[in-house]
Amino acid sequence: MIIKSADFVASSRLVKQCPAAALPEYAFIGRSNVGKSSLINKLVDRKGLAHTSSTPGKTQLINHFIVNGQWYLVDLPGYGYARSSKTKRAQFADIITGYITQREQLALLFVLVDSRHAPQHIDMDFITRLGEYGIPFAIVFTKADKLKPGELNRNVDAYKRTLLEQWEELPPVFVTSAEKGTGREELLSYIEKVNNSLAE
Ligand code: GTP
Ligand code: MG
Repeated sequence: MIIKSADFVASSRLVKQCPAAALPEYAFIGRSNVGKSSLINKLVDRKGLAHTSSTPGKTQLINHFIVNGQWYLVDLPGYGYARSSKTKRAQFADIITGYITQREQLALLFVLVDSRHAPQHIDMDFITRLGEYGIPFAIVFTKADKLKPGELNRNVDAYKRTLLEQWEELPPVFVTSAEKGTGREELLSYIEKVNNSLAE
């Protein structure tokens, strides 16, 4: 897919404040600092569109970006940042739960996990909840540039094995680097495919 335009639309705390247009949207979720905002920027090739930081807890609201005037990319706050205050964590959790359970335009949730780490409980628990809510999702490994290919493959395989302990079938899996652009084309093609299937 060719990206012709990508523009910021709105930041919202509540689903009822989110843009009203009936366009499909693709949201990025995962632990704080996993690379959600960076990957959104890489996908649309617009540095600084979504705000990033080396300090976890940067994205605090539901941020809508409209792409090619036809669909939204949605940047969400991260979950599970241990050093943020209890209040802040609870606020982020409320925003995330509200969004994933109430947003009718949500076409697919990309769950980002750091490719350097073994499966984490917090991500597995989150994925289990998605199953319970019946929310379509894909797994996106981030920061692939930080690993050697052998390590990367081992970690991805280990993750898939852990998922298969709970799921009969694997969700779509993507390996990405916002630094190098790895996986960009694959993610955009997948979004295009889902957009087309929704338009049928
Ligand atoms: P919150 O908004 O705080 O939840 O974080 P986030 O998930 O949006 O992460 P963000 O995109 O702000 O990136 C966090 C840090 O990781 C930044 O310092 C990025 O430069 C770095 N980073 C993100 N993606 C990559 C990547 O693919 N490779 C490398 N090497 N660094 C990355
Ligand atoms: Mg962010």
